[in-house]
Amino acid sequence: KDTKNVVIIIFGASGDLAKKKIYPTLWWLFKDKLLPPNTFFIGYSRSSLTVQMVRDNAKPYLRTVDGEQERLDAFFARNSYVQGSYDKREDFAKLEQYIRSSTEYASCNRVYYLAIPPSLFMHVATHLKSECFSPDQQGWSRVIIEKPFGRDLHTSEILSQHLSNLFTEDQVYRIDHYLGKEMVQNVVVLRFANRILAPLWNRDNIANVLVTFKENFGTEGRGGYFDEFGIIRDVMQNHLLQVLSLIAMEKPLSMAADDIRDEKVKVLRSIRPIELKDIVIGQYVANSETGKPGYLDDATVPAGSLAATYGMAALYIKNERWDGVPFIIRAGKALNETKCEVRIQFKDVSGDIFESGVVHRNELVMRVQPNEAVYIKCMTKRPGMGFGAEETELDLSYSKRFSKVKLPDAYERLLLDVLCGSQVNFVRTDELREAWRIFTPILHELDAKAVKPLPYAYGARNGPPEADQFLRNLGFTFSGTFSVTRESRI
Ligand code: BG6
Repeated sequence: KDTKNVVIIIFGASGDLAKKKIYPTLWWLFKDKLLPPNTFFIGYSRSSLTVQMVRDNAKPYLRTVDGEQERLDAFFARNSYVQGSYDKREDFAKLEQYIRSSTEYASCNRVYYLAIPPSLFMHVATHLKSECFSPDQQGWSRVIIEKPFGRDLHTSEILSQHLSNLFTEDQVYRIDHYLGKEMVQNVVVLRFANRILAPLWNRDNIANVLVTFKENFGTEGRGGYFDEFGIIRDVMQNHLLQVLSLIAMEKPLSMAADDIRDEKVKVLRSIRPIELKDIVIGQYVANSETGKPGYLDDATVPAGSLAATYGMAALYIKNERWDGVPFIIRAGKALNETKCEVRIQFKDVSGDIFESGVVHRNELVMRVQPNEAVYIKCMTKRPGMGFGAEETELDLSYSKRFSKVKLPDAYERLLLDVLCGSQVNFVRTDELREAWRIFTPILHELDAKAVKPLPYAYGARNGPPEADQFLRNLGFTFSGTFSVTRESRI
């Protein structure tokens, strides 16, 4: 409804994130006419670039098809580029002037996308506030930031404090792109719009919850960034913990962003910090059968690095609903497949009357990717003569049920959310603080004790062999029968 111009300023326009995600996402939104009609884009970075160069960089990721050339030209015609430093106030003044001097940009709404290395966050935020947020501005201004939001509770708090000195909470959009994924957004609907699940969603019925993230590739030459952070900071403390909090939270007062985020924070506050006994860490080594290299063979990884490329941790929620139920999150690079799923494993049937070992536990699985699906593993009578029981699935595979629907990319949804001023899928300051409170002690302890990750071969199913035993010790039952079409082994 807002007819003002919108200008989206991309700091870090020369970088990886900009070319692989931000420009392509803006292009898809533009192409599908989902952006306000008067939207313009300004790239900003230290490099001397032209719009043509930005376009060339992004080209392999734009996924254009025949017949879109004209539209693509129209998109880039709305782009401009400003070269400037990140640490000089004057350069931000120059940028502001540029925004104002281009008539379309007068009195516009603004999105500032900080796609820059963390060491520059604070400089950019400071100069942005002093030069580009003038009180006479009529439109709104919103700032998007990307992780890492610090490396631990202390460094994250410094950053949060800095941001909250400059901006209000409703101006800051911390991206966790998992919150933009279809199935992650579906958690709230599945849980709170289905009567059949509500009475089961508790410690009386659920044995454990397993949230899995697997990738079938390693760092492959991008070890520099990864090595500084490791899998716990890279994936577990943010993406997987976000998913967990949606699974475990109480019913929010409404679908309003702060009602949902209030409940997420509450559940995080009920989780005690992870201890050494609650975690398994691993690092992949070369696989002699496939010839795939080990983590330390990557030239961009420092020799002797102790960074974990696999992690599995059990978290405990001390509240009436979940007391004693392990919430297990695991994430690994260089495993046998790429997938992300949530698996809720129910308790055994009591007073089992069937042949021993035949009845398997029910499981509700939400597959986030690839091939979105929700399915329930359940027992049924083997069709035909006799009374044998066998395991099967109630299956909602999106490719079958919703075959004509195109699911948008997570970034598309999130950027639209920013334009609409919806913060439900963004991480609030107190939520971030709680996430770091849970993980900081273990991260510090692993560092201080120089704990060596357990080895696993590139391509392994579940990281180091010790990980399966760890899962069993937590009461997870490997059910043994798997549908080939839908599941690999757990
Ligand atoms: C990023 C991590 O946040 O998420 C990467 O830094 C990881 O290491 C990526 O590969 C996974 O995202 P997706 O959307 O491909 O599952």
